[in-house]
Amino acid sequence: MAKEPVRVLVTGAAGQIGYALVPMIARGVMLGADQPVILHMLDIPPAAEALNGVKMELVDAAFPLLKGVVATTDVVEACTGVNVAVMVGGFPRKEGMERKDVMSKNVSIYKSQASALEQHAAPNCKVLVVANPANTNALILKEFAPSIPAKNITCLTRLDHNRALGQISEKLNVQVSDVKNVIIWGNHSSSQYPDVNHATVMTPSGEKPVRELVKDDAWLNGEFITTVQQRGAAIIKARKLSSALSAASAACDHIRDWVLGTPEGTWVSMGVYSDGSYNAPAGVIYSFPVTCKNGEWTIVQGLAIDEFSRKKLDLTGQELTEEKELAYSCLS
Ligand code: NAD
Ligand code: LMR
Repeated sequence: MAKEPVRVLVTGAAGQIGYALVPMIARGVMLGADQPVILHMLDIPPAAEALNGVKMELVDAAFPLLKGVVATTDVVEACTGVNVAVMVGGFPRKEGMERKDVMSKNVSIYKSQASALEQHAAPNCKVLVVANPANTNALILKEFAPSIPAKNITCLTRLDHNRALGQISEKLNVQVSDVKNVIIWGNHSSSQYPDVNHATVMTPSGEKPVRELVKDDAWLNGEFITTVQQRGAAIIKARKLSSALSAASAACDHIRDWVLGTPEGTWVSMGVYSDGSYNAPAGVIYSFPVTCKNGEWTIVQGLAIDEFSRKKLDLTGQELTEEKELAYSCLS
């Protein structure tokens, strides 16, 4: 029997990430090749004509899984009945800015959209915040939508996770699909900590630790980390626009693994509401290693954290605590 369609909201759908993301969702990349979808696309009135153009292209693409398209500038209409909400709407940073420099513009959007989601989304709607500062926008959404369970509100650090996999795969000249269990800790900002201490590579003679294969701790503790931390800025410098296809692809990975589960023995990074695991600050959205099963994420527990890592986990946690204060001061 054919499955019922899932309603997926994409805010900022007329923007660059939106344009890359909606065809992926309509092709089944996010929810599976047998899962029909109805797309809800929201943007603001100045982008209404462009949004309508995206809708026309979706019709023209004749995607078999796409059972309907709602394209609107009305936030209530956009949020009504959605099962998955991918929050991309907002303003991207430009060259020379940190992601928190777009804070005042973007957190107020997340405060107002929180209520619309809370009142009109389907029960148990899963929310992924992509717009920057992603962790703090997600926290504001959570705080102003108190009836949505905190575990349903997450932010995207899967792009950073995938970037870390990509760097290791290039360094070792191995398939990216053979590398696993990197971790992004903390903030989706230049303070994030990409950690390879538990990462492995599948080789013809079995699974081997990344550190053993790379044999270059100076690179792993230096250039590797800064490359991943600064990759967003490097893309902006090269494209004069922030990452879009990789961000859209990572958003699909995030939701797919959350809904359909992570493979056995594999974890992924997600920004989730912190319970203080690994002595990260509680009450912020912090990126942790998680596994997912039956539509629920669980933080991987018990990983050893060495002194070098401890300092980095604390630093990015401290930045999130400061961002939280800054966000509230922007909203007052
Ligand atoms: P963009 O400017 O191309 O598109 C953003 C869209 O959001 C625009 O169409 C704009 O009209 C719309 N918008 C603005 N305010 C809105 C509102 N109140 N409601 C609905 N829509 C609204 O930007 P982009 O390149 O698509 O990036 C979007 C966001 O994602 C930025 O904040 C960017 O920094 C962030 N980003 C995050 C990651 C990540 O890994 N977390 C990766 C890439 C980009
Ligand atoms: C990214 O990581 O590519 C995005 O967050 C965009 C940015 O501002 O870096």
